[in-house]
Amino acid sequence: MLGTLVLLWLGIFLLLLLIMMRRPKDFPPGPTPLPLFGNLLQFNPNDPLKELDKLSQRYGSVFSIFVGGRPWVILSGQEVIREALVTRAAEFTGRPDHLMISHMLENNGVIMSAGSKWREHRRFALTTLRNFGLGKHSMEERILEEVKHISAHLERYAGTSVDPQNLFHNAASNIICSIIFGSRFNYEDEYFQTLIDRLKELTKISLSPWAMIYDIMPLLRCLPLPFRKAFEHYEKLKAHILKVVAEHKNSWVAGKPRDMIDCYLEEMQKRAGQGLSFDDTQMVVLLFDLFLAGTDTTSNTLRTLSLYLMTHEQIQECCQQEIDMVLGSREHVSYEDRHAMPYVQAVIHEAQRVSDVVPLSVFHTTTANTQIRGYSIPKGTLIVPYLSSALREKGQWKFPDEFNPQNFLNDKGEFVKPDAFIPFSAGPRVCLGEGLARMELFLILVTILRRFRLVWPEDGGVPDHSLIFGGTQSVKPYRLGVQLRL
Ligand code: HEM
Repeated sequence: MLGTLVLLWLGIFLLLLLIMMRRPKDFPPGPTPLPLFGNLLQFNPNDPLKELDKLSQRYGSVFSIFVGGRPWVILSGQEVIREALVTRAAEFTGRPDHLMISHMLENNGVIMSAGSKWREHRRFALTTLRNFGLGKHSMEERILEEVKHISAHLERYAGTSVDPQNLFHNAASNIICSIIFGSRFNYEDEYFQTLIDRLKELTKISLSPWAMIYDIMPLLRCLPLPFRKAFEHYEKLKAHILKVVAEHKNSWVAGKPRDMIDCYLEEMQKRAGQGLSFDDTQMVVLLFDLFLAGTDTTSNTLRTLSLYLMTHEQIQECCQQEIDMVLGSREHVSYEDRHAMPYVQAVIHEAQRVSDVVPLSVFHTTTANTQIRGYSIPKGTLIVPYLSSALREKGQWKFPDEFNPQNFLNDKGEFVKPDAFIPFSAGPRVCLGEGLARMELFLILVTILRRFRLVWPEDGGVPDHSLIFGGTQSVKPYRLGVQLRL
């Protein structure tokens, strides 16, 4: 009797869940969801993009899936992504409320916030990064300073091989440190390594299925599961940032900013009494955001780029010829030199295309009831700009399935950027660090190729270009063989 009752209640419960998971009228189509799991079980966790491609072929460029009980709308292909994020930007720039990172950062900062707080902080960060493009301690100088350390590190290993993962991660972190804290760390510094390890671990957890579980099963949040660790790491990183901010407050001179913290202190002073959201809490999250968004992305791209150069020797040599010709006997490369290096530019962009570092972008939400391609999308719907689909889209690229710089060169050998190149996303939420990342990739690559030949180590086994899926994708670990060029 009791068993029948339990089964009956379970049946009613599942039925209710199924009713709740019905797509509203005119909502983008998609596969039928299962109670509790939605469509999650049909995705291979190691390669979910394959299933998204299949669904896109079946349902078109706008379709939906259920994750738990929540519908996600997937935008596939450059045209529809641009239509939503650029043409209809006003309705597509929201961010989801309940993701782990939003809770950790209490909806502050830039990445996960929205509304005026987001707009003001985004404007401030962009202006500050742009202003560093001028002045004595320009962004370029800071990157070139770090490039010297990368070169010195590689030189020590010339004739052998290095682990590029740590090297590029340390370098990308240091460039952010230099811009926001005004100083860098030695790669071997133990304190620096602890900070980096915490950031890596936090990023890993926040991009793992645990973050999804956190989001869709709130009851589990109080259990000692890995997301607790992510919150702990955040608290430690926050303590470090607060310590540096306190030091800056003691040594800061108005009108003479040394770094982003000084600029923020100045902004706080300017806005004092205006009731705007510039305070210590916001500053910590903004600085943390830049770390979180600016290290893995750039370093994973550099790792994929180096792998392709080692395995495509001819492409590497063509880059070196162009670099030698343009720089001649000049000591340093400058970012302006990119205009005279169409081939190098094409190789960097092609590496970004195949690196496909942020395949599902950062999720958006709709800020009002809206429509796209004839489908109705209610306010608050989670939107996934499927950037990968554009970067590999048939008909948009001369060679969508291979590593080929010709994808970015016209018949005259000039550098051209197809519309489908959107690794930084598009619209008002487009990556805030795009300018910085482009500068880093160019200056680092040119300096390395000018001095070193990158070779696949004899004992390296068979090179594997496949990507490990994740919020930020990367190639598998490998060793980077380096030889000094004559
Ligand atoms: C956002 C890609 C480097 C800071 C994003 C987004 C993507 C992206 C796809 C999501 C945009 C959207 O929501 O539509 C990349 C790639 C990079 C890179 C591929 C390197 C190759 C950087 C760097 C920084 C940075 C170096 C730090 C200065 C940010 C921030 C956001 C963001 C703060 C949030 C913007 C907002 O919500 O308004 N990035 N990024 N990124 N990125 Fe990057």
